[in-house]
Amino acid sequence: MKILKLVTIMLICAVQSFAQESAPNFDETLVPFYTLPDPLTCMDGSKVTTTEKWTNVRRAEILKLFSDNVYGVTPDGILPEVSYEVISEDRVALNGKAIRKEVLVKFDKRYPEFNMSILIYLPVCHKGSVPVFLAVNTLGNQEVSDDQGIIVTKKWVRNSEKYKITNNSATEASRGARSYRWPIESIIERGYGIATFYCGDIDRDDKDDYSQGIQKLFAREGQTKADANEWAAIGAWAWGLSRCLDYFETDSEIDPARVVVLGHSRTGKAALWAGAQDTRFAVVISNDSGCGGAAISRRCFGETVNLINSKFPHWFCGNFKKFNNKEDQLPVDQHMLIALIAPRPVYVASAEDDRWSDPKGEFLSAKHAGPVYSLFGLKGVGVQDMPKVSQPVFNQIGYHIRKGGHDILPYDWEYFMDFTDYHFYGKNSSISQKVGL
Ligand code: GCU
Repeated sequence: MKILKLVTIMLICAVQSFAQESAPNFDETLVPFYTLPDPLTCMDGSKVTTTEKWTNVRRAEILKLFSDNVYGVTPDGILPEVSYEVISEDRVALNGKAIRKEVLVKFDKRYPEFNMSILIYLPVCHKGSVPVFLAVNTLGNQEVSDDQGIIVTKKWVRNSEKYKITNNSATEASRGARSYRWPIESIIERGYGIATFYCGDIDRDDKDDYSQGIQKLFAREGQTKADANEWAAIGAWAWGLSRCLDYFETDSEIDPARVVVLGHSRTGKAALWAGAQDTRFAVVISNDSGCGGAAISRRCFGETVNLINSKFPHWFCGNFKKFNNKEDQLPVDQHMLIALIAPRPVYVASAEDDRWSDPKGEFLSAKHAGPVYSLFGLKGVGVQDMPKVSQPVFNQIGYHIRKGGHDILPYDWEYFMDFTDYHFYGKNSSISQKVGL
């Protein structure tokens, strides 16, 4: 009897502690006390006081820490057989306002099934090469517009009642399904291009998909599972973003020196990781990227490392699971991911009701990346306190929090374009007034 009682008590304790560890916290007063790792202290304890030491020593250390412990190592193997083919082109798309093209990237002759289709819209009346925004999509290129010319993806897509995707196949019903998230006409009216590829072209957003993803091209013979420090889906999508940039370098209509990599939510995590690794990206933008993106992990507010790893085990590397409920032991935190982008401009956007993504944690990352920007003589986010809702701040780091929930809306895009204008073209009066510059 006594033994039964003891076992019952032990069971209750175990369930309670599991519930505590698994339940998200949305109460600011319950955020644990934490100390952030210092981006400007090297592993040997020495301080970084020059941009040279940052670039040559500390930046490389932090990149390695993120690779080994969070996103997995991106292989640097070169694929010698990459080829590009324009598979559709319309010079009078969107009622004559845009040029639309789709470019098929083939990576390796051994595996023709691994290919990526980049959908690109450019303004028709552009002179020379144009700057472009680049982002991953998650339903297939056809999600961005009801433009009949876009090829509906034939790749595996997650089933969705909302978007009428059954048998993991996209149909016409998903054409333009998320067009509100891609304000193509406003983007081209402002002189920018917009490019995207479907995440499933590179790596399915699905558990247990090792052999389906691009990782296969770099695997050892007979390897069926990633090693604990090898890349997973977010690393693969980030790699795909860099491969788009490789293509842009060959397209005379696109300015490869002015490519803005951005993403919302899971694709925001990928955009930050791509921007951190690949210094060719001129501007990096994160929208509601939350845990594993811009939010400070140590705050354990909203989604935690344990929650994200349990639900999406295929996003981060095996080693990241070691930090489930042990965020304080991470050798990095997400402010260091933002710092890796220095001295390039970076923008972090949050939404008031998107507490799952921890808006305050997203702001704090932007703020605590500041000392690295200061090293370059630049202002980081330039404010101590979190800006009020609908009051964006623009410095070398930009930040806004808007009304509403987890989404990417025309409001967000408007400030992303203003921020980009500000950095590409200098202070322009209309933007200056808007954000009080
Ligand atoms: C889930 C996940 C988030 C992610 C989001 C999205 O909510 O928990 O980490 O950002 O999906 O990609 O929409």
